[in-house]
Amino acid sequence: MENLKQRKRMLSITGIIAVFIFISIQFMGSKVANPAIKSAFKGPKAVEQILKRACYDCHSNETDLAWYDKIAPVSWQVAKDVKTARSRFNFSQWSDLSEAEQETKLWYIVNMIDQGKMPLKSYAALHPSAKVSKNELALLKTFVISYSAEKARKKKELKPVTKHDETGIKPQQAVALNGVAYSGDYKNWEVISTTNRFDNGTMRIIYGNDITVKAIKEGRVNPWPEGSVIVKVVWNKSVEDEDGEVHTGDFNNAQFMVKNSKKFKDTEGWGFARFSGPKLLAYGKNVGFATECINCHQLASKTGFVFDIPKK
Ligand code: HEC
Ligand code: HEC
Repeated sequence: MENLKQRKRMLSITGIIAVFIFISIQFMGSKVANPAIKSAFKGPKAVEQILKRACYDCHSNETDLAWYDKIAPVSWQVAKDVKTARSRFNFSQWSDLSEAEQETKLWYIVNMIDQGKMPLKSYAALHPSAKVSKNELALLKTFVISYSAEKARKKKELKPVTKHDETGIKPQQAVALNGVAYSGDYKNWEVISTTNRFDNGTMRIIYGNDITVKAIKEGRVNPWPEGSVIVKVVWNKSVEDEDGEVHTGDFNNAQFMVKNSKKFKDTEGWGFARFSGPKLLAYGKNVGFATECINCHQLASKTGFVFDIPKK
């Protein structure tokens, strides 16, 4: 009897001590503060969303920890990870990096996810929402490829086609014979797909306007809604250097598909056009040129005559 009482008392004393220690360590060690955002990383919304969810708890000043991250001793490790992570790179101080460094870092970021090294395994185990899915990874890859392509393109900025262009290009040269006009708007659109043609080394990026992107999300691609516009941009030989960075060559051409069933009823409702070289010369000797395009695109009739439909 006496023995049992003693054991019970011992147990409760140990319990009280443990609770006491647990409570006191809560006041020890570093807490994670969020300094002001200096210069936030800016990318396509979808890209930002993925990175915010998966990486910002450590690599930004927007750390938003779960309650269980704030309990010592776990919080000590978390604070250490955040400190180290921010010192490596910080999405909230993005312009501390030069443009070239930003580009390299973005490739590094995608590579780390690809290799399963980031987000930290210990963290992902407790925060399932931080995991990056296969589709999301594909989207990030597409983003970095187009980001590099865009950088390369900017270096050799295409001259805008205006009336007063010194190059002597008249604006009507950037309108195909079926009336489809060149427009650089696609540079602000979402990338819906990229394809590398390793045979001749060109790189293609396919952009879609809002209507197109929405149609893909909703699976309404046969027929595509009126007003869908898809632009495929082709660059010459892309090369990968020792650091694994992809550099694209010169702009080769931009190919347009504009959905307007009435206007382009002879070519399955799509207005085709191709503009080549820095002068953006429109392809086609006569209006029949587009039959060449649709003849091939018939192969994709099941998906509304568009080949590259990204997976939802
Ligand atoms: C739980 C905190 C945490 C999260 C979440 C996290 N990281 Fe990290 N990350 C770290 C730490 C810590 C390091 C430093 C590792 C080392 O050097 O040992 C690091 C290093 C890196 C590096 C190397 C940077 C350099 O320049 O050396 C990259 C790239 C990276 N993380 C990308 C990511 C990406 C992308 C995500 C989101 C998918 C992510 N991290 C999410 C903690 C985190
Ligand atoms: C020899 C067959 C062929 C011809 C001719 C052709 N295309 Fe394509 N086109 C393709 C294939 C295959 C793809 C998808 C793969 C790729 O991007 O290279 C494609 C993709 C495209 C895309 C991106 C959307 C999609 O369908 O995936 C556009 C825009 C496009 N072509 C426009 C044109 C225009 C404009 C012409 C005529 C000037 C044309 N195409 C002629 C085969 C062809």
